[in-house]
Amino acid sequence: MPASIEVDSNPDDAVLSAAELVRRLQGKRGVMSTGTERIDAAVLDACPALKAVCNVGVGYNNIDVEACTARGIVVTNTPDVLTETTADFGFALMMATARRITESERFLRRGEWTQTGIHDHFVGPDVHGATLGILGMGRIGQAIARRGALGFGMRVIYHNRSRLSAALEAPCRAAYVDKATLLQEADHLVLVVPYSASSHHTIGEAELRRMKPTATLTNIARGGIVDDAALARALKEGVIAAAGLDVFEGEPKVHPELLAAPNIVLTPHIGSASVSTRRAMASLAADNLIAALGSGPQAGRPPTPVNPAVLSR
Ligand code: 8YV
Repeated sequence: MPASIEVDSNPDDAVLSAAELVRRLQGKRGVMSTGTERIDAAVLDACPALKAVCNVGVGYNNIDVEACTARGIVVTNTPDVLTETTADFGFALMMATARRITESERFLRRGEWTQTGIHDHFVGPDVHGATLGILGMGRIGQAIARRGALGFGMRVIYHNRSRLSAALEAPCRAAYVDKATLLQEADHLVLVVPYSASSHHTIGEAELRRMKPTATLTNIARGGIVDDAALARALKEGVIAAAGLDVFEGEPKVHPELLAAPNIVLTPHIGSASVSTRRAMASLAADNLIAALGSGPQAGRPPTPVNPAVLSR
């Protein structure tokens, strides 16, 4: 068991090209990655010393887990520590979208607020008492459901690959529905579904057309879950009322028609960005890495593995 671990860090958060990443990982046994670094089979083949890939994030679609498993490499993520913070953000983004907060702020900052007392100025749909639809009822989806049901008196409906147990559904006061019903009945639809090839463009033109014209759509999951071009068209044509997006196809680039749309709130992938949660995520990723490399009190037993079977080989 090594007494200490030598670390090569990237303190400036510089984005590394695939070639630079491979160069920096030569001879390294573990890597702490973020969603920005793509760890695929080609990178793994070029870095044969790697034994652990420890992501800072609950999502890990930047990592080819199957390729890691096939090479005996453990993959870890950072669930739980970011659940409540990300749910706070999802709820805030949904509220800002419904109540047109950034759109009206831009209006005010442009100096266009020259008359008070306009009865229907920036009116939007209510949040309290409305129907909250959640697509993807994992930990974050459940935390958003609790906020809606308990704090805002919302009717909560959800769709998920499988229905939750009654014990998990009860505290969320959430009812399971099929995807078509979710799209048709939600006043505010929030996406919290993990990204994979099978969830690519889960929300495209056809799905948007099933939604209410007064509905809002909030995506805090991953870019690619929504067809951004279809959404831009839908916002322009009034197919739905408004959208809030924290994640984008091809981020940090944002579809120009989304940038131009007035009825959209745009944030740069900051769902988990509270001071204490980012610290907790980094700390959990470090604990995973240290344990995966055979050091520390949990040597050989990283706390949150994605492919735990690798550990028992
Ligand atoms: C991270 C996220 O900021 O946890 C996730 O899956 O998307 C965010 O919390 C992102 O992964 C950066 O590493």
